[in-house]
Amino acid sequence: MNIIEAIKERRSVRSFNGESLSEVMKSELYKAIAGAISPFGGHVSIRLKEFDLKAGFKPSTYGMIKGASSFFMLGIADDEQSALTAGFMFEQVVLKAWQLGLGTCWIAATFKGTDFDNGEAWPDGEQLRIISPVGVAAKKSVVESIARMAIGSDRRKAFSTLFFNKDFETPLSPDSRFGQALEMLRLAPSSTNSQPWRALVVGDTVHFYYIQKSQLSVLDCGIGLCHFYETERFNSQKGEFFKSENPPSAPKTWKYLVSYKGE
Ligand SMILES: Cc1cc2nc3c(=O)[nH]c(=O)nc-3n(C[C@H](O)[C@H](O)[C@H](O)COP(=O)(O)O)c2cc1C
Repeated sequence: MNIIEAIKERRSVRSFNGESLSEVMKSELYKAIAGAISPFGGHVSIRLKEFDLKAGFKPSTYGMIKGASSFFMLGIADDEQSALTAGFMFEQVVLKAWQLGLGTCWIAATFKGTDFDNGEAWPDGEQLRIISPVGVAAKKSVVESIARMAIGSDRRKAFSTLFFNKDFETPLSPDSRFGQALEMLRLAPSSTNSQPWRALVVGDTVHFYYIQKSQLSVLDCGIGLCHFYETERFNSQKGEFFKSENPPSAPKTWKYLVSYKGE
């Protein structure tokens, strides 16, 4: 399965088959963690932790996650670069897991921190902010189906309402230079499916903005930018992220984040 197929097929998985990960899968996941990159800096650690459910301790996800014994844990410092990097790096692991046949679910709210953080030491101002179960998916539980419906997880905003060309009124053509990479960004997961990302294309440059929906909006954008960047790489396109000193001034509710200059 290539990365475009993984991006299109991936969904959050909250119900698992109850089996622990094989040594081969664990080693692949450790490789994915070690290989994850970010151009944004900051301080982020990704760990994989296994809980021995048979020993009787089950970390609490308030009933949201069923049948998982392995969890990723993300230590993230409290600044913009770290939030962007957390989204950008961990989504690479999420997509790799999907390619290996494993489901995950980004979780920022529905977990009991002390159950997971027990005995962990985090460096450089990092704190446990995100967890994700990882394992083989089972049939969706009723709780999972209700959660998906309540959040509207299957509905993404239309391309034409998110991405613009030259000015903030002209929708970008999906067939243009950055069309596919932005379409893949559009499919990214975000907290409560809030999809805070917006973009303006001016020639060979994409300026990224976001609408602040919550504390997680920048991290959400990091996830979207991972999809964008993976698509560029898949298509052997080159380019670099940079912070513009003079980004085009956008509608009032939009905050400038970062730009990308393609070759
Ligand atoms: C940063 C982040 C935090 C999230 N936190 C939670 C959470 O606390 N509980 C939960 O059940 N889902 C959580 N989700 C999953 C989203 O609800 C889900 O990604 C979104 O509804 C889109 O659905 P999809 O991932 O199946 O495409 C989170 C997702 C992201 C990206």
